[in-house]
Amino acid sequence: MGDFGAVDLLSFVTGSMPAISASAPGKIILFGEHAVVYGQPAIAVPVNQVKAKAIVIANPMASPGKIHVQAPAIELDSNLDELAKDHPIASAIYLTVQALKITRPPACTLRITSSIPVASGLGSGAAVTVAVIRALSTFIGKPISDEETNSIAFEVEKIYHGTPSGIDNTVVTYSRPVYFLRDQPIELLKVPHSFTIIIANTGITSPTRVTVGDVRQAWQSYPDRVEPIFSAIGKIVEQARRLIEHGEPYQIGPLMSEDHHLLQKLGVSSNELDQLVGSALEAGALGAKLSGGGRGGNIIALADPEHAPGLAEILRQSGAAQTIITTVST
Ligand code: PMV
Repeated sequence: MGDFGAVDLLSFVTGSMPAISASAPGKIILFGEHAVVYGQPAIAVPVNQVKAKAIVIANPMASPGKIHVQAPAIELDSNLDELAKDHPIASAIYLTVQALKITRPPACTLRITSSIPVASGLGSGAAVTVAVIRALSTFIGKPISDEETNSIAFEVEKIYHGTPSGIDNTVVTYSRPVYFLRDQPIELLKVPHSFTIIIANTGITSPTRVTVGDVRQAWQSYPDRVEPIFSAIGKIVEQARRLIEHGEPYQIGPLMSEDHHLLQKLGVSSNELDQLVGSALEAGALGAKLSGGGRGGNIIALADPEHAPGLAEILRQSGAAQTIITTVST
């Protein structure tokens, strides 16, 4: 098992206190965002260059049931019972403890850190949840299976996203490329030939809940216009899947650009995203699109591995706040 998506089995010692840590990767959606909420397929892959990490440190001096939560990035430093019941981190803890059928977990401090940009389509919320479930359940001595981790994380995703499809929690939990269909068993995507993707962040945060809500409103108001867009996206996903699984990943470029065009029609792109997509294509990317909820967050671009660093540089010069070069492989 790699460093990501795994519990650190060599639980370490801080002073005299035993601690358990677990981490989970970020993710990007290659194809199918938004339409996936309405039953179309989507393809998502983990991004191992960024991760969320949870560390649980025993606190034997405190009474059982006391959990202290620290997440410095969001200035969180509170006892669990001081957090709102529907706070996503509190929910992850309560659902984990409930799944383990215990009433009072041993007292501990839960520390959360993450290098995944928030509200940017990189699955930061799902990764934090999965890391918390894994670290806490292992600390309690009853590690929770991937299947159950995934279903708890889905419940927490509802707090973040309103009506999530479940794709984020699935790809983050399994840490493998997935072909995803809502409410269907998980299908891992075969990637016989790895390929390179550049992720470029606009630096603009955009809550997925908002764009998902706007797409829902558009669909309710104009189903005749919006449903054909969902179906067209679904067809693109199927074509992309065939190419990737047949070992021709560098042929998916035009499909990415087509998908971006459809997402523009859904109203989830923005000037910044369109500009980065344009810059990527001008600089020789084989295809480019927004990834995730849209209106901010990231674009992704397909490039030969040898061209990727130069392309990433051009994207930064064109205004990207951050770029990541990632390799998609099974
Ligand atoms: O978390 P994001 O921004 O990558 O978006 C998730 C993808 C959507 O299709 C927009 C929503 C969903 O739940 O599938």
